[in-house]
Amino acid sequence: MAVVAKERLKSPRARLFVALDLPDEVREGIVGWGEEALADPALRVVAPESLHVTLAFLGHQPEKEIERIAAVVRASVGPAPWVELRDPEQRPPRGRARLYALPVISPGAEALQTGLEQRLIEEGFCKPEKRPFWPHVTVARVRPEARGSRRPAVVSGRPGPIPEGLTEPRIAIRMTLYRSVLQPSGARYVPLAQVKLPGAG
Ligand code: 2AM
Repeated sequence: MAVVAKERLKSPRARLFVALDLPDEVREGIVGWGEEALADPALRVVAPESLHVTLAFLGHQPEKEIERIAAVVRASVGPAPWVELRDPEQRPPRGRARLYALPVISPGAEALQTGLEQRLIEEGFCKPEKRPFWPHVTVARVRPEARGSRRPAVVSGRPGPIPEGLTEPRIAIRMTLYRSVLQPSGARYVPLAQVKLPGAG
C-alpha cells in the first residue's frame, strides 16, 4: 500500500478540464466589447484563445491517463449546440467580485455536459459537482488587492451589457480537452484533444 502511495506521488500529473470552444467571431466580439468594458485596472482580462465554456473540471490527473480521458471525450460527442451569451455577472454574486463571466443559455451544452460528466464519473476521472452546472464564459478575473493577498481588489468600473449582436444564437464548434498550466502571469490552456461536433459545418 505504501509503495502504491509513493508511486502515486511520483507519477506526473496534469490539471485538466473539458470545454466547449466558441466560434472565432464570438471570441473576437467578446474581445472587442472587453476593450472598454473590461478596462478597469483591477481586472485581468482572459486571453481570446482562453475564452470557453467549461463542461467538466477534472483537477489533477495522472499524465498517463490523458489518452483514456481523450477517448471518453470523443465518446461523449453530441450535436453541436446553439449557445446564447448574456450580460456579464460577477462571482460571487455579492460582495467583492472574484471574476466576471457571461452566462450562457444553451440546452444543447447542458445535454453535452450531462453525458460527458456521467462518462467521466463512470471511468473515475471526476466526481459529481455539488453545485448545479452554470454554463458561462469567464471574461476577466479580479487581481488581488495586494501582492500575495487572497482578497480581490475593488473594481470601480463594472462591465456593462454586451452588444445585441453578441446575444444572438451561435453554434459551438468543438469540444476540447485542455491542460491548464499555472504560471505567475495566469493560467495557460493547452489543447490536448479536440473533437469537432456534428452539425458544426
Ligand atoms: P472559471 O472560468 O469559472 O474560473 C480552467 O481553470 C477552467 O476550469 C476555467 O474555465 C474554470 O472555470 C474551470 N474551473 C477551475 N476550477 C474549477 C472547479 N473547482 N470546478 C469547476 N470548474 C473549475
